[in-house]
Formats: sequence, structure tokens, C-alpha cells
Amino acid sequence: MIDGNTKVCGIIGDPIGHSLSPKMHNAAFEANNLNFVYAAFNVKKDALRDAVAGLKALGVVGFNVTIPHKVDVISYLDDLDVSVRALTAVNTVVRNGSSLVGFNTDVEGFLSPLRSRGIGLSGTKVTVLGAGGAARACVAGLSMEGCESITVLGRTVSRLRELSQALKGLAGNKMVTRPLTSNTLKETVEASDIVVNATPIGMHPNISDSPVPAELLRTDLLVYDLVYNPIKTTLLKYAESAGASMIQGYEMLVAQGAVAFRLWTQTSPPIEVMEKAALEGLGEHHEG
Ligand SMILES: NC(=O)c1ccc[n+]([C@@H]2O[C@H](COP(=O)([O-])OP(=O)(O)OC[C@H]3O[C@@H](n4cnc5c(N)ncnc54)[C@H](OP(=O)(O)O)[C@@H]3O)[C@@H](O)[C@H]2O)c1
Repeated sequence: MIDGNTKVCGIIGDPIGHSLSPKMHNAAFEANNLNFVYAAFNVKKDALRDAVAGLKALGVVGFNVTIPHKVDVISYLDDLDVSVRALTAVNTVVRNGSSLVGFNTDVEGFLSPLRSRGIGLSGTKVTVLGAGGAARACVAGLSMEGCESITVLGRTVSRLRELSQALKGLAGNKMVTRPLTSNTLKETVEASDIVVNATPIGMHPNISDSPVPAELLRTDLLVYDLVYNPIKTTLLKYAESAGASMIQGYEMLVAQGAVAFRLWTQTSPPIEVMEKAALEGLGEHHEG
């Protein structure tokens, strides 16, 4: 029940109507008996400054930030957590006294499903497909966990260069960037233990697409697809048929949300409740 003491969280982005975060966080607040509410706000690019100032003035506890504001929001915050440094993108804002502090929970979110399976990354060779914001979070996480090599394959050379510049301090010589072609894909996947898809290939509505052809997948490979809509992508279906291990994108979605939940409420996130809400929401998207 919303009353005079209800604390407010939310998400800003454009578009925002399909976000799963309100379902996930409101279910979690209820499960933890917290007098909190989470709402979605559609904020246009030219209204970002006013929106952040408004959220600050209204005393919200914190909010998520999604496309297209993840980079631009940085200018309107008072402080940034170390998690933002190499990624230059904020997906979570937390009020600390009178200040708004930017965080990025994608690195923790990416690593969490690996950790919960007890998969050690030390000494592993990893292919990351894509060179956008999510790929940056993957490279940061993989570097921190001691991978032997990280090969980033991207279709736009300038984006590969930007990623390389931003992450070379963290990843050093472990990281190599290469243009994405069928040859580099084959060579790199053959030499890898783990393949991460950080492109939108295979995402709804193009659900029959796969960033990696079935014949390159094998039993001793772990395939981690960041795409969560559909819940099981064509890439993951190929992985399953090849007997490879797999991690589904919704697991990261829930995990990065759980980190934000903990930051806002200082309570332990009810992961199973959040996962159920996210999967229900994804199911509804399919029907819609
Ligand atoms: N599970 C989760 O919690 C989670 C979290 C974050 C993101 N994601 C998912 O991860 C994906 C990437 O997100 P993002 O934020 O990194 O997006 P982004 O910043 O727009 O980057 C997307 C990257 O994919 C590349 N790409 C797009 N279409 C491609 C194609 N047809 N062939 C080859 N490369 C292609 C882009 O290349 P160009 O530079 O050439 O355009 C870019 O490097 C999305 O599907 C998103 O939903 C999931």
C-alpha cells in the first residue's frame, strides 16, 4: 500500500514501456516487506537534465538509467562509483545524502551467473561478440576475474578502437580486438573456452538469427548470450543441440537488478522472486 512514507525508485529511458524492471523490483519490494515503489518514466533526450534534477528534488531513493541516457546522465550526477570508470556508462543512480551517485551494475550482473555455477575464469580464453556498452561490461568483468585472453570481435572498427582505449588500463595485453568476419569468428571461437554474445543478434523480432553458426559450437564450450528476449535464443538452441553449456541473458538481467536493489534498500535481494517476475514479464512480451 502506497502511503505518506513510501520510498520511490524508478527507471528513466526512451522507450520505456517494455522495461521488465518495474515488475522485478516491485515484486522484490513486496517480498522483502519494504514500503518502496518502482515506476517507469519516459524521458526524452532534451528533458534529461530536468528529469534528473526533478528526481533529486523529489527525494527518490535511486533510479535505473537505460537507453539513450546511460552516458549523458553522467554530467548531471554529483559523484561516480569506481564501477563506472572503464565503462563510462551509468545504469543505476543511488541517493547518498543530498548527492546522486552513479553506478554500473552490469559487470557484477554479468559475473554473477558464472559465479553461481562455480565457473572460474582464471586461465580461460573468451570470445566477446560486439563492441558496445554491454561488451565493455563483459571485458571489464572477464579481466578482473583473470581470463587468459579476451578477443573482442566487432563489425565497426571505430567502436572496437573506442572499447580498446577505454579498457586497456584494466585488460592490458589480455584483450585483442578484431573485425568480425566469418574467418575471424571461426578462428576465435575454435580457440575459445567461452563465447559471449554482446550484440543484439537474435533479439526479438529477429529471433531466427544467430551470431554464431551451429557448426562452430561444441560440447566443451560455454555459450553466454546476453540477449534475453526471447528467453532461449537461436544461439542457445544451437548450443544446447551441440551439448555446450549455456547461460541465458535473463540471468544477467536479474543479477544486475539485484545489485541495484541491494544498493537502494540495503537488504538482501530476493533473487528467485525477481527471476520469476522477469520471466513472467518476458512471457507476456512474447504473447504481446
Ligand atoms: N542480459 C542483460 O542484462 C543485458 C545487459 C545489457 C545488454 N544486454 C543485451 O546486449 C545486447 C547489446 O547491448 P548494448 O547495450 O551493448 O548495445 P550497443 O551499445 O548498441 O552495442 C551493440 C553492439 O552490437 C553490434 N551489432 C549490432 N548489430 C549487429 C549485427 N547485425 N552484426 C554485428 N554486430 C552487431 C554493434 O555494432 P556497431 O557498433 O557496428 O553498431 C555494437 O558493437 C542487446 O541485445 C541488449 O539487450 C543484455
